[in-house]
Amino acid sequence: MRTGFAMKAVVLLALIGAPGSQGEDTQDMNKSNVSKPVKILVACFSHTGNTREIARQIQAATGGDLFEIVPAALYPQAYQAVVAQAKREVQAGTRPALRTNLASVAEYDVVFAGSPNWWSTIAPPVATFLASHDWSGKILVPFMTHEGTRMGHGVDDVRKLCPGATVRDGLPIRGGQVREAQKEVENWVNEIQKEIMR
Ligand SMILES: Cc1cc2nc3c(=O)[nH]c(=O)nc-3n(C[C@H](O)[C@H](O)[C@H](O)COP(=O)(O)O)c2cc1C
Repeated sequence: MRTGFAMKAVVLLALIGAPGSQGEDTQDMNKSNVSKPVKILVACFSHTGNTREIARQIQAATGGDLFEIVPAALYPQAYQAVVAQAKREVQAGTRPALRTNLASVAEYDVVFAGSPNWWSTIAPPVATFLASHDWSGKILVPFMTHEGTRMGHGVDDVRKLCPGATVRDGLPIRGGQVREAQKEVENWVNEIQKEIMR
C-alpha cells in the first residue's frame, strides 16, 4: 500500500523552500517549490534476501526508486565462508568494488539505506556505496535485518560515512520475520513522514 509520504513531503518542501531555490525571484521560487516532488531512493545490499524483502516493502510504501548494491565479487554461499570473509573485511575496513553504482544521488532528498547486520555493523558493500556519494543536506534512513543484535553500531558507522546528512535512528527487523513485516514497515514510514513534517 502506498502512503501519503511523497505527496505530504511535496507540501513540506513548499513550506520550507525546495533545495536550490534560494536566490531565485519569488515567482520562480514558488513555481519550483510547488512542482518539485521529494525524490526517495531505497538502496540495499542483501546476501540471502531478507534485506531485499524489506527494501521492497519500503519501496511499496514510499514509491521511491530501488537500487540494489551488488559487489563486483559475490560473497560465498557457504555460511562459514561468508562469515569468515565478512569478519576479515569488517575488521580491515575493506570497501569492496561494486558491480554497478549510481552515477549520482543528487536528485534524491530522502534515502533509505539497507544492510544485513554483519558483525554488528553494515556490510562492506554498503560502506562502499555510502562512501562513494555526497549525502550533504539529505535525510538518510538506515534499516537493517539481523538475527539478534539489531543494528549494532551500524547507525553510528553510517553517520561517520555520511557527513552532512541527517541520519535517522533507523529500523531493525529480524531476518526470520521479514515476510510479516509489511505493517511495521508501513507504520515506520508513516512515523518518519510525520517527524519530517514537524
Ligand atoms: C557474515 C554474517 C555476519 C552476521 N553477523 C550478525 C551479527 O553480528 N548480528 C546479528 O544479529 N546477525 C548477524 N548475521 C545475521 C544476518 O544479519 C541476518 O541473517 C540478515 O537477515 C541477513 O540479511 P540478508 O538476507 O539480506 O543477507 C550475520 C550473518 C552473516 C552472513
